[in-house]
Amino acid sequence: MRLIAFETSCDETSVAVVRDGEVLSNIVSSQIRLHAEYGGVVPELAAREHLRNLIPVTQAALGAARVAVGDIEAVAATQGPGLPSALLAGLKAAQAMAFALRKPFVGIHHHEAHLYSPWVGGEPLKADFTAFEPNVSLIVSGGHTILVHVESEQSHRVLGSTLDDAAGECFDKVGKLMGMGYPAGPVIDRLAGEGNPRAFDFPRPLLNDPGDDFSFSGLKTSVRYHLRDHSGLLDDARTVRDLCASVQAAIVEVLVAKTIRAAQRSGVRCVTASGGVTCNRSLRSGLATACDRAGLKLRLAERRLCTDNAAIIGILAERKLALGAEASSLDADCLPGWTMN
Ligand code: KG4
Ligand code: ZN
Repeated sequence: MRLIAFETSCDETSVAVVRDGEVLSNIVSSQIRLHAEYGGVVPELAAREHLRNLIPVTQAALGAARVAVGDIEAVAATQGPGLPSALLAGLKAAQAMAFALRKPFVGIHHHEAHLYSPWVGGEPLKADFTAFEPNVSLIVSGGHTILVHVESEQSHRVLGSTLDDAAGECFDKVGKLMGMGYPAGPVIDRLAGEGNPRAFDFPRPLLNDPGDDFSFSGLKTSVRYHLRDHSGLLDDARTVRDLCASVQAAIVEVLVAKTIRAAQRSGVRCVTASGGVTCNRSLRSGLATACDRAGLKLRLAERRLCTDNAAIIGILAERKLALGAEASSLDADCLPGWTMN
């Protein structure tokens, strides 16, 4: 089946074409530079940019896939969660296209698309659901930190999530305190690579709590007080690298330990991870080492599929249709606060 998918939940306008589990094209137009000036995503600007980008990005996706619009057999879009005005742009474009083509439309939960993204990979980029096995999955992005028990394909249960800031938000806010631009996660990742993770002892929130929830705002506050009480720390490049490495170590230790503990308790033999923060090198190697030690298999979403993109929306939508899911309504509304159960 040839399916076109739209993702506009935050600051990436993305359109992808998939066919029978293969990603034929995945065009992502990032608005990072536009929002960087404001230190974060401005919803009105994001929506306006999506409207500007949707048609050229759609044309580019169809062109790169060498698929004519008349050959599209189904249309999908992120229905939620996300910024209301941003979601609306992609959702309504997709529904209008489905209406014009008289083809089914599928509304997708953004986190569910991340959840199944570790099963997509390789060259050519393809889904391999035959390899699926029950797993505990960590979804870590700028807006969310969620641990999920995926009992079987298309059946999952949320074990825990963040009580305050998401892990990516913590990276971004700590970076802001250190004078870095938005998003700071990739910058901290790079600088931390040359720093000492034991130079500063920052808290590991909820590390020893038996539950599966996370909390990162206390860590950010601890960095703020440390910078306030030790003036001049940011004047030395080496100290900045040590700060980055120490903050990253605190975030990664909590994420890795709680994921492994949840996997062992749930009795699964596999761990998966996805979402923007899964690009982080220390998180990737930390999960690899811990899974190895615990005798667990690890599937990480490929870096190119970690940040927001329409390919993961399209792959999940096509899979749902293939497994017999019903099409969504053409006048279904966006669901900005759609929670995963
Ligand atoms: O999944 P995503 O593209 O968007 C959301 O749905 O939020 O994730 C973006 C988040 C940002 O907070 C960004 O700082 C973080 O992912 N991020 C990273 C890295 N690359 C992106 N955080 C740490 N290390 C990285 N290498
Ligand atoms: Zn996302």
